[in-house]
Amino acid sequence: VEPGALAGRHVVVTSGPTHEAIDPVRYIANRSSGKQGHAIAAAAAIAGARVTLICGPVMLPDPPGCDVIHVESARDMLAAVEQALPADVFVGAAAVADWRVEAATQKIKKEQGAEAPSFALVENPDILASVARAQNRPRLVVGFAAETTNVIAHAREKLARKGCDLIVANDVSEGSGVFGGDENEAHLVSPIGVESWPRLRKEAVAERLVARLAEILNEKEAA
Ligand code: C5P
Repeated sequence: VEPGALAGRHVVVTSGPTHEAIDPVRYIANRSSGKQGHAIAAAAAIAGARVTLICGPVMLPDPPGCDVIHVESARDMLAAVEQALPADVFVGAAAVADWRVEAATQKIKKEQGAEAPSFALVENPDILASVARAQNRPRLVVGFAAETTNVIAHAREKLARKGCDLIVANDVSEGSGVFGGDENEAHLVSPIGVESWPRLRKEAVAERLVARLAEILNEKEAA
C-alpha cells in the first residue's frame, strides 16, 4: 500500500465474533478469530486513515494506531458502529451472530429431574445492511461472505441484498483452514465483476484490500 493512500479518511471496521448472552454466565459464540478484520484495521492505519475498529471478544491485541472499541453482542456492535459514523469506508468483517436468545437475568439453574431448557432465537440486527442503508452511508461499504458452497453466486446475491459496494468472498468449508487460520483465499465481488486473489496470508489480503479501497474511493470521487 502506498503510504498516505487513505490519508484524511475515516475507516470503520468490525471484527471478531459476537457473544450473545443466554444468562449472566453463558453465551452463544462462533469461531471467528478476528484475524482478518484486525489485519484490515492495521493496514488502513498504516495507509494513513483514522481507523475505528469495533471488535467482539477476540484473543488478539489491539492493532496499533486504531481507536478500538470492544463490544460483546451484535446489538452493542451496531450501537458502536452508529456512534462511529460518519466514515468514508465501512468494512464489516465481523462474524455477527444471526440470532440471540432473550437472555435470562439470573443464571438458569439445573434442577434435579427437570427437563432441559429450550431457547427461542430472536433475529439480530444486520449491521452491514443497516450501514449500507443509513442516511449517513459511507461512500464505500464492504461486506464479507464466508461460504461453504457456490462462493461467488452467494456473494453476488449478498451484494444486492445488503446494498453494499463490494463483497470479499471466501470459502470457509471444512479443510479450507480459513476460519481461525492465518490464510485466506479471497474473491472481490462487485457489480462490475470478480477479482480472485491467490491464497495469501490474512495480512497480505488486508494490504491488497486497503490498496483497492483507496483506488475505488479515488475513482468514485473522480466520477
Ligand atoms: O449474511 P451473512 O452473515 O453471510 O453476511 C456476512 C456479512 O454481513 C459480513 O460482512 C458480516 O460482517 C455482515 N453481518 C452484519 N450483521 C449481521 C450479520 C452479518 O453486519 N447480523
